[in-house]
Amino acid sequence: MTHTVECLKGMRDLFEEDLIAWRWVETVFARVAQSRGYVEVRTPLLEHTELFARGLGAATAVVGKEMYAFPDKKGLSVCLRPEGTASVARAVIASGKTHTEPFLRLYYGGPMFRYERPQKGRQRQFHQLGIEVFGLKSSASDCSVIALADALFTELGLKQRVRLLLNSLGCATCRSAYLARLKEILLPALETRCRDCQERALQNPLRIFDCKNDTCRNQNNALPKLSSHLCEACDTHFKDVKTTLTALGISFEHDENLVRGLDYYSRTAFEWRADGLGAQDAIGGGGRYDGLITELGGRPTPAIGFAIGVERLLIALEAAGITPPQKEAPIAILPLDPQSAQTALILERDLLARGLTSVTVNLSETSLKSQLREASKTGARAAIIIGEAERSAASAIVKNMATGEQTTVSMTDLLAHLLKKI
Ligand code: HAM
Repeated sequence: MTHTVECLKGMRDLFEEDLIAWRWVETVFARVAQSRGYVEVRTPLLEHTELFARGLGAATAVVGKEMYAFPDKKGLSVCLRPEGTASVARAVIASGKTHTEPFLRLYYGGPMFRYERPQKGRQRQFHQLGIEVFGLKSSASDCSVIALADALFTELGLKQRVRLLLNSLGCATCRSAYLARLKEILLPALETRCRDCQERALQNPLRIFDCKNDTCRNQNNALPKLSSHLCEACDTHFKDVKTTLTALGISFEHDENLVRGLDYYSRTAFEWRADGLGAQDAIGGGGRYDGLITELGGRPTPAIGFAIGVERLLIALEAAGITPPQKEAPIAILPLDPQSAQTALILERDLLARGLTSVTVNLSETSLKSQLREASKTGARAAIIIGEAERSAASAIVKNMATGEQTTVSMTDLLAHLLKKI
């Protein structure tokens, strides 16, 4: 026997039973974003590898270890996007929109790829729903972005189960002074740290705050924190963010260890954590990235955004026992012979055209018993049975699937009967 070809590790096939909740969160997200004036953007899955190397930072785990990068047929290094922000920023620069539309609010969704070790809530192909705002620099704009996610969690019924962690990563000036100070403390005592932190201390010292090793974490507690070394402008910005969030009734925790895994952030950074996910409990994250557009060759443009991981959001919803609203139960048309199949197709077309939203025709050519079983499996609220006798009398048998009651109804009265009685 030939072997079967399996799905790649860390990737999944999605069937209808998975997609019901999936479509629901996508729809709610699009509605929440559109109702606040956001418009959609879609960018390619494949980009120049350089985009992410420059945009996210060469010393980040995403760029250093996790990118699906490979040469294309002409030897050009291309990469499956590991995240959406750099792609959207590139698209905005390339389209000239930073010149023509000084204030841009965009939302997006789709697959991202990171070569990570798969575990619960961590996949190699995962999906994000995100927003990116360009041209706004105020603390109020940071809060409006956070408020949008808050509205999404509220609409999904998840708000009480999500914690918002907040920090400030300062600007280029105050952060580089702080990093110099941090290195001075870290370098003489490097050997007391885990191997990863030894590397981090040299390459990207802020990232030591991400370490999961207990010894390193204990040492981190004693280190000076970036949010206590902000310049006056960054300090005021951060205080204003906290005041406005409080005024909006959005609770948060200031987490001095929150540094985020990508290098483009400046000032406000945040993450949402939820129950039921185990180690991978960040269901979303984001922050301000005022330097990215210039880093990618565009003109100076402040920016902020976030992305939510769809798979993790769905795990959190399931853990909370939250299910999507039920869709309308279908009307199932069951033809009992080939000629009745034709009548059934005409009836399906007419019922849908006259306002019913869910009608199915069973074309399996199986017995009435098995067609009724199938109708009941799909949750049909009524079955319309058409056989030779019904056809010649221009009628149909309508079976109420909840009560089992059967009525013969003429074709002309069928719609009225379904609307009134079922
Ligand atoms: P991120 O924190 O790397 O940020 O990813 C955002 C979310 O994507 C995470 O909180 C998580 O829910 C989900 N995620 C990340 N990696 C995986 C994975 N391997 N498997 C499953 N889910 C995952 C960003 O990507 C930034 N672009 C967010 C942003 C937008 N910042 C500003 N604008």
